[in-house]
Amino acid sequence: RIAGPSGLVIFGVTGDLSRKKLMPAVYDLSNRGLLPPGFSLVGFARRDWANEDFAEVVHDSVSRYSRTPFREEVWRQLAEGMRFVPGVFDDDDAFASLRDTIDRLDKERGTGGNFAFYLSVPPKYFPQVVRQLRTSGLSEAPNGSWRRAVIEKPFGHDLASARELNAVVHEVFAPHEVFRIDHYLGKETVQNILALRFANTMFEPIWNRSYVDHVQITMAEDIGIGGRAGYYDGIGSARDVLQNHLLQLLALTAMEEPSSFEADALVTEKLKVLEALRLPRDLGRHTVRGQYTGGWQGGQKVLGYLEEEGIDAESTTDTYAAVKLEIDNRRWAGVPFYLRTGKRLGRRVTEIAVVFQRAPYSPFDTTETQELGHNALVIRVQPDEGVTVRFGSKVPGTQMEIRDVTMDFAYGESFTESSPEAYERLLLDVLLGDANLFPRHQEVERSWEILDPVEEYWARHGNPEPYTAGTWGPTEADRMLARDGRSWRRP
Ligand code: BG6
Repeated sequence: RIAGPSGLVIFGVTGDLSRKKLMPAVYDLSNRGLLPPGFSLVGFARRDWANEDFAEVVHDSVSRYSRTPFREEVWRQLAEGMRFVPGVFDDDDAFASLRDTIDRLDKERGTGGNFAFYLSVPPKYFPQVVRQLRTSGLSEAPNGSWRRAVIEKPFGHDLASARELNAVVHEVFAPHEVFRIDHYLGKETVQNILALRFANTMFEPIWNRSYVDHVQITMAEDIGIGGRAGYYDGIGSARDVLQNHLLQLLALTAMEEPSSFEADALVTEKLKVLEALRLPRDLGRHTVRGQYTGGWQGGQKVLGYLEEEGIDAESTTDTYAAVKLEIDNRRWAGVPFYLRTGKRLGRRVTEIAVVFQRAPYSPFDTTETQELGHNALVIRVQPDEGVTVRFGSKVPGTQMEIRDVTMDFAYGESFTESSPEAYERLLLDVLLGDANLFPRHQEVERSWEILDPVEEYWARHGNPEPYTAGTWGPTEADRMLARDGRSWRRP
């Protein structure tokens, strides 16, 4: 899978995402030999830069963040195809000059008219950029070539805004030309959910309401909001990651087997699960939001959310969210899916825990010595990528004592191959036109439809519950599960 003649234009090239993820990903792809020799990278931003200045910025980002060793000859070839177009989004001339740049690159580097436009800009600029692409003729693919739009999340902040954005984007690009990024889908371990479930025989027979007690999906981060106050405040954790990453993880965990691994087949199945998702009626009992206060993390004193730079001191933005969802279908009826995410939690970990029912009857003496929990299969998305199975085992000795043990599969031990960074894989897929790992607009809209009532409920009912940085979130989250006779895992 090597990309054919093509180029990439990044809008918002001076932003964090571009520097930390996109530029290094382009270099790493090139270093792995996955980009064509004439590949070209065009930056567009409000800066007075020449091509050389841009190349220097890319060089700096590559030397800091790329994952493969620096090789001068790879860099030189890539740098020859770097161009910078200064401009703002309402400047028609800048877009005309972008078009000229692309036309010249076609001639000089053989990009064949194939260009992807990466909108690494705040969503409020999407409509303007997309329309400029149309007006300037850039969205129109010359004969036999392709033009694609790549859109970063957040894709709207509720259903209405997402619909508007989709409408604007689809005025200009056909659905198959739009690639919406959810970088979790680019993670190795996330794709392995499908391999685990559908390439094997032993998991699927018990992957249903007859055996599963409940599912917990956790995305915990130890970091705070850092320098992202402008984006995060008013958005919060549920909109930031639960609406997208966590619901995608849920969809992959709960969906039926697709008829193939093609984009259409995958979307069909994911969408069916999302359509069948239901919020509990009493949102007060089954959802929780929290906000971190100052505390200690990794031996360091850290600020509370309200003390972070750029945050409104009265802010009611959630930095923690937990939600219970159910799936109304034959496989999952009655099995709760508990989703939680938060910043400044105990440690960084993302995992999906499928927790099984207890044995219906125990022939063993149930004295206090038996510390038997539920069987569980845990997919560790990150870090320490792998899969763990927890089950009871007899403790060596003369007594019939049974205790939980774990069986581990760790990527690091089983494979010598290194996995590409999520953005690397996704960028390559964009250039290849492979849409498997990109949520469609129907999924995005349905995900907002699920979250909107929660956000509306929260907006009307009080403030987020404070939790101390470095802990596992608000105590109300523990009560939420305790009411169902369950508890959160401590990863
Ligand atoms: C992003 C969120 O989508 O995912 C961030 O906007 C979050 O708030 C990030 O920190 C986490 O990504 P990862 O790959 O580090 O788990």
